[in-house]
Amino acid sequence: MNKRQLGNSELYFSEIGFGAWAVGGSGYAFGWGEQDDNESIAAIRHALDLGINWIDTAAIYGLGHSEEVVAKAIKGIRNNVLIATKCSLVWDENRDISSSLNADSVRSECEASLKRLNTDVIDLYQIHWPSDDERIEEGWAEIGRLIEEGKVRYAGVSNFQVEHLERAQKIRPITSLQPPYSMMRRGVEGDIFKFCRENNIGVIPYSPMQSGLLTGKFSRDRLQPDDWRNESAEFMEPNLTVNLEFVDELRIIADKYDKTVAQLAVAWVLRREEVSSAIVGARRPSQIEETAGSSGCKIEEVDFHRIDELLQQRAEKVGKAGGTVRT
Ligand SMILES: NC(=O)c1ccc[n+]([C@@H]2O[C@H](COP(=O)([O-])OP(=O)(O)OC[C@H]3O[C@@H](n4cnc5c(N)ncnc54)[C@H](OP(=O)(O)O)[C@@H]3O)[C@@H](O)[C@H]2O)c1
Repeated sequence: MNKRQLGNSELYFSEIGFGAWAVGGSGYAFGWGEQDDNESIAAIRHALDLGINWIDTAAIYGLGHSEEVVAKAIKGIRNNVLIATKCSLVWDENRDISSSLNADSVRSECEASLKRLNTDVIDLYQIHWPSDDERIEEGWAEIGRLIEEGKVRYAGVSNFQVEHLERAQKIRPITSLQPPYSMMRRGVEGDIFKFCRENNIGVIPYSPMQSGLLTGKFSRDRLQPDDWRNESAEFMEPNLTVNLEFVDELRIIADKYDKTVAQLAVAWVLRREEVSSAIVGARRPSQIEETAGSSGCKIEEVDFHRIDELLQQRAEKVGKAGGTVRT
C-alpha cells in the first residue's frame, strides 16, 4: 500500500483510508440500514492488515456509534493507526440533527469523541460542514486551542468552498480538505483543487465510488428500506438506469487492467496529485479487500479520455430522461 504526505503535516496516509460512516448503522437520518458490529470490526481490522493506516469517522455517524466501533476495532493497537474524526453536526435527545460551530460546542464534541474513541488525542480533527456559516472562524479557532492543549494533532475541514477555505486559512493553516469527489461528482476539480495546491492542503476525497454505485455490484434490490441512498437522486430513476449503463461501460475498461469497477473508480480519484488519500467505505472484510487493490493501479491516458466521453454521454442521457446531473 503506497503512502502520501498529508498536506502541511508530518502524517503519511495510506492511499486508501477506511471510511466508517456505514459502520455507524441505522436509527438516525443518515443511516445505512442494519449493520453487524462484529462484521464492521472485522472489516476495520482487515483494512489495517492490508496496510491501510488511517480511519475516517465522525461523531454524527450512528450518533456516536461509529466512533465506538472504531475504538473496539483498534483496542490494543491504537499506536498503529491514525484517527480522523469530525465535529459540527450535533444531535438532541430526539435524535434531531443540527449544526453548531460554537466554541463550547466544538470543545464538548471533541471531549466526547476522545472518550468514545478511547484515546488521548485525535490525529486529524475536521469541521464536517460549514453550515453554521457565521461561526466558522469561532469553531476553527477553538480547534486551534485544542491543538495547543494536545488533544488534537492537526486540523482539517470538509465540504468547504473556496470562500470558506480562505476564511479559515487566515486564522491557521488548514491541513486537509475532505470533499466529495468521484467520476460522477467533479465539482472540486477547478478552484478548490487550485486553492489546495497553492496552500499545501491535502485533499482526502470521500465517496470515490459514489457510495457504492460505482462498484459494479450495485443493484436496485441492494438497499434496505432505511438506507439514506433510497432518497438520493443518483440512486433513483431516471438517473439510476443511466448510471448502471455507465458502470457497464466502465467494466470494459476495468477488465483491460484486470481490475474491478470499484478499483477503477478509486484509482481514477487517486490519479490527481492534489489527492493524499481516497476514503472508501466498507461494511465487511471482502469489500475493503477489493478496494484496497486500487492503490498503485495505473490507468493509461487514453482510458481517462474514454471515461470523459462516457461521462458526457451519461450527462446527455440523464438530461433527455428528465433527471439532473450533479457536479
Ligand atoms: N465529510 C463528509 O461529509 C462525508 C460524506 C460522505 C462520506 N464521507 C466519508 O467517506 C467514506 C466513504 O464514503 P461512502 O461510504 O459514502 O462511499 P464509497 O466509499 O464511495 O462507497 C462505500 C459503499 O460502497 C459499498 N461497497 C464498498 N466496497 C464495495 C465492494 N468491494 N463491492 C461492492 N460494494 C462495495 C458499500 O455499501 P453497500 O454494501 O451498502 O452497497 C460501502 O459502504 C465514508 O465512510 C465517510 O468516512 C464523508
